[in-house]
Amino acid sequence: MIFDTHAHYDDSRFDEDREAVLTSLSCHNVSRVVNVAADMESVRTTLALADKYDFIYAAIGVHPDGIAEMTETDIETLRALSAHEKVVAVGECGLDYYGREIPRETQIHWFSRQLALAKECDLPVIIHSRDAAEDTYETVKRFYTGDGAGIIHCFSYGKEMARQFLDLGYYIALGGVVTFKNSKKAKEVAAYVPEDRLLIETDCPYLAPVPKRGTRNDSGNLGYVLDTMAELRGVSRKHIERATYENACRLYRLKV
Ligand code: NI
Repeated sequence: MIFDTHAHYDDSRFDEDREAVLTSLSCHNVSRVVNVAADMESVRTTLALADKYDFIYAAIGVHPDGIAEMTETDIETLRALSAHEKVVAVGECGLDYYGREIPRETQIHWFSRQLALAKECDLPVIIHSRDAAEDTYETVKRFYTGDGAGIIHCFSYGKEMARQFLDLGYYIALGGVVTFKNSKKAKEVAAYVPEDRLLIETDCPYLAPVPKRGTRNDSGNLGYVLDTMAELRGVSRKHIERATYENACRLYRLKV
């Protein structure tokens, strides 16, 4: 069975055929999906999906691109909604320094607030981090560490950085990028992360794996990611599928 630990099925790119895509996933052996919010509006649409579909769980939080207008009232709202029975994580939140105009201090402020909220609610946190390794590490270290504290999603740094986040208790999630020919770092990390800390994700509709690269992604494509990981790690596809499924259940505190 396959667990997609990070998807955005409330994205408008699924408006035409969302129901059909979601109901087709069981044919691809996908049995659980965490839909991840990126702003306060998608917190609501994410919860609506989790209410509608048994196999969909919710992560609620605000992505660095959505924090420009964030307020403490939003933190209060997230705190209240975290009690919803399908909420399994806070996120995605984090730091993105890649060509972004939102000041770094503002990003660090709202990232810290969401880390503290996750810790307070005893939920794992889903972290987005791009071109911001050092600040992400320092902020995480200060606000929320421990076994299963969270996930560094779409991990884009090297092995040394992976080691540092693993040492803080974090899991590493990889998706379509590991199948790209030129993704040397992601391939190295996929081979390096200990078997009990590795997760798979789509980040759909983005980042479709080879041979579907460039098309709209969905959880049905995770087989390509698992095949590549199995090859890189020298284990069977079944083996890594099972390990990543069990890891996701443990991290999100769901029964296998
Ligand atoms: Ni995402």
